[in-house]
Amino acid sequence: MIALSKPVIGDEEKQAVMRVLDSGMIAQGPEVAAFENEFSQYMEGHHCIAVNSGTSALHLGLLASGIECGHEVIIPSFTFAATANAVSLCGATPVFVDVDSDTFTMDPSAVEAAITKNTSAIMPVHLYGHPADMDPLTEICARNGLVLLEDAAQAHLATYKSQPVGTFGTAAFSFYPTKNMTSGEGGMIVTANDEIARKAKLLRNQGMEKRYENEIIGFNNRMTDINAAIGRVQLQKLRERTNKRQDNASFLSQNLSTVSVPVASSDVNHVYHQYTIKTENRDALSNYLTNSNIGNGVYYPIPVHQLPSFGKEIDLPNTKTVAEQALSIPVHPLLTQEELHTIVEVINAWC
Ligand SMILES: Cc1ncc(COP(=O)(O)O)c(C=O)c1O
Repeated sequence: MIALSKPVIGDEEKQAVMRVLDSGMIAQGPEVAAFENEFSQYMEGHHCIAVNSGTSALHLGLLASGIECGHEVIIPSFTFAATANAVSLCGATPVFVDVDSDTFTMDPSAVEAAITKNTSAIMPVHLYGHPADMDPLTEICARNGLVLLEDAAQAHLATYKSQPVGTFGTAAFSFYPTKNMTSGEGGMIVTANDEIARKAKLLRNQGMEKRYENEIIGFNNRMTDINAAIGRVQLQKLRERTNKRQDNASFLSQNLSTVSVPVASSDVNHVYHQYTIKTENRDALSNYLTNSNIGNGVYYPIPVHQLPSFGKEIDLPNTKTVAEQALSIPVHPLLTQEELHTIVEVINAWC
């Protein structure tokens, strides 16, 4: 089977974990601080606050930005449920909007139309590693006094007009094992705002900066030094692995002929967390690929607004179409040339 995704864990990650275990300092400590500093170098020096998951990064990023009960947060419906869950966990209301069907990201004109007097924030998702259209989105936020929180869970090292995603507003990254880099589990809040950074640090650790002098009510969302040590090794290899993903994606796009290949807008550096094709016979193609031993996955078959957890009846036509047509195929950095050729031959033979 050609795997759809494969976390690349090697000897260096194992040695880093052993180093932490041998040190006796396992909870949040020097490795987390070093990981935050190193990640910040890719984030134009912004504050980086490591937490235990991408979901926690979204949740604390929203809370630290002042999002609370009664607020509305505009999000795309074509995303992983965590985007919407984080909004609801703050007591706020997710307002679902449509996506652009070529880039799979939030449609700025739909955002504009969804703004009400209760809107506090917009949360674009850089889905599959393709940056959302940040110029109009930042302009809408500035003009309406809204918080901008980027869900960058899938977009490490992606750029929009040469600016790294994660640096347009406050942002959340995920280090889940199948992401472009992993720490086992983990997440990172990124912000240029000193107050948001301080609040996020307090929320991460029971509301404490000084030990046992708790200032606010907070969580235990800390990252361990074991996870940070893995993340530090992965960060060093991220550029090379991203280049490999991009090479694999361009080979697939140049050679696939029977399906609609992903579009990267000319303004962006797409990092291909997923390589997602579109076809009207998606489920048939998925079965055919599985029977041909080629891993594949549907991200995401049910738009979030229609999940039982949200259960909203709204008409989002592009979201409906992409949820029916999108199929992700292998693009990960461990693919061999032979495997890439097999994927192309098998898909091109399908009709
Ligand atoms: C778009 C998106 N947002 C948020 C998350 C949540 O990240 P985590 O799984 O690390 O909590 C994910 C992870 O799958 C994601 O893909």
